[in-house]
Amino acid sequence: MSAPHTPPTGYRDAPPTEWDPDRPVDFAEAEDFLRACYAELPKLGPVEPRLAAVREQIDALGTYTHTHTELVHGARMAWRNASRCIGRVYWRSLSVLDRRTHRGADQIFDDLVTHLHLATGDGHTRGRLRATISIFGQSVPGRPITRVWNDQLIRYAGHRKDGALIGDPQYEQFTAAVTKLGWTGKGSAFDLLPVVLQTGDGEPRLYELPESAVLEVPLAHPEYGWFAELGLRWHAVPAISNMRLSIGGVDYPLAPFSGWYMGTEIGARNLADADRYDQIPVIAARLGLDTSSETTLWRDRALLELNRAVLWSFERSGVRMTDHHSESKLFLTHVERERKAGRQTPGDWSWLVPPLSGGLSPIFHQYYPEVDQRPNFYLDRAARCPWQPQPQSAPTIPAQRTASGSARCPVTGQSTLAAEERSATAPATAPATSPTASPTASPVAAATGVSALVGVRSAAPGPSVLASGPSEAAAPGAVVVAAPPRKRGLRRLLG
Ligand code: ARG
Repeated sequence: MSAPHTPPTGYRDAPPTEWDPDRPVDFAEAEDFLRACYAELPKLGPVEPRLAAVREQIDALGTYTHTHTELVHGARMAWRNASRCIGRVYWRSLSVLDRRTHRGADQIFDDLVTHLHLATGDGHTRGRLRATISIFGQSVPGRPITRVWNDQLIRYAGHRKDGALIGDPQYEQFTAAVTKLGWTGKGSAFDLLPVVLQTGDGEPRLYELPESAVLEVPLAHPEYGWFAELGLRWHAVPAISNMRLSIGGVDYPLAPFSGWYMGTEIGARNLADADRYDQIPVIAARLGLDTSSETTLWRDRALLELNRAVLWSFERSGVRMTDHHSESKLFLTHVERERKAGRQTPGDWSWLVPPLSGGLSPIFHQYYPEVDQRPNFYLDRAARCPWQPQPQSAPTIPAQRTASGSARCPVTGQSTLAAEERSATAPATAPATSPTASPTASPVAAATGVSALVGVRSAAPGPSVLASGPSEAAAPGAVVVAAPPRKRGLRRLLG
């Protein structure tokens, strides 16, 4: 790799700038995004009028709203920039569910269930997974954020019972937190955790996922009959739900996205890591391997059989999954395509190289630019362990990677999944749910609910009128810009 250096902000363990939901949108970031987006989508026409409208909105509101087309393309760009994801060749196929006007925990939960159905496939398409993202309301200064506590929509509990841990140890603290809130699981090794939604500092609300929304694959081995007796299984859809989507300076704190698995994520990590399901010694024993010395490579042999079982079982069940050899090749195809399009592909080598047979992957043999390109997905400190009271203005502490490569919550020490690890995806057919708005139509309304203010702004296209104090009401037709300008103006309009 290149000489030791400080990693760019937001990259690897370098703390991203702490996100401040009250900070007004930086016009320069909006401009960068819009210029790139309009250049990539010539059908959108010239960007200049759009830039002028966005500048007006930001001046008036501290934020602006994306058109549907910008939102869709921005989300796809964010995936394209996700430096830890090996599956980016499919970035154009991301199916975007525009949920910006949807509010309230019940409605959001219904949308999450719909997301899982669409991403999993229903009826005869069940198992034909497709890459999907649901994008809920953008962050607006002064308005509370609704977040999902879960790092993935579908995960298994980790129950501590008489000193022993049953289930996924990574979720021990999460399980304890929801148990405190009244949840009781069955106590099995694969208990589906409830989804927890919380708006601002309000009461967290727990929702059980309906069985129909969760496709699971029981694991068996093509040759070893005993493998099925281990009772192992995994869920079909990885759906990361705690990352903030950032597009052109606008943040979407709730934007769960899902793809499909690469076998090693389950076979060489979730079921294999010593601090997860730790199945290597169990499988080695069943295989009757000589574990008296490391040089027998019993671990590697057990790991290989576990990975064969994962790939074989998903295939047998008709559930889309990819393997690390095919996906490695496709990743390099992607890098090459991007190069031809005049773009560099940011990459985090340590995440891109598969955790099995690393040197057999062509990804291993080259390096990737370590840059933080936006749009992108970010994991905020507050989103890592939201059930912990959040220190008000503690310094940003980066997630620590453990020896096994997972991330740890810096506050609780709990292992957290540092998200967008190895994504992969499918040709998307999910319908766009809202029509493309005109870029000049000041569409703040739909996503922020602050149409009144936009109306005011467009009625008063001249210079902003400065209000003199926080209690002063905005005169009709005037734009209130006082310190802190946007927040106060929005608060007034939002009540
Ligand atoms: N590695 C994570 C897991 O095992 C999932 C990360 C996203 N992966 C994906 N293929 N989209 O659950």
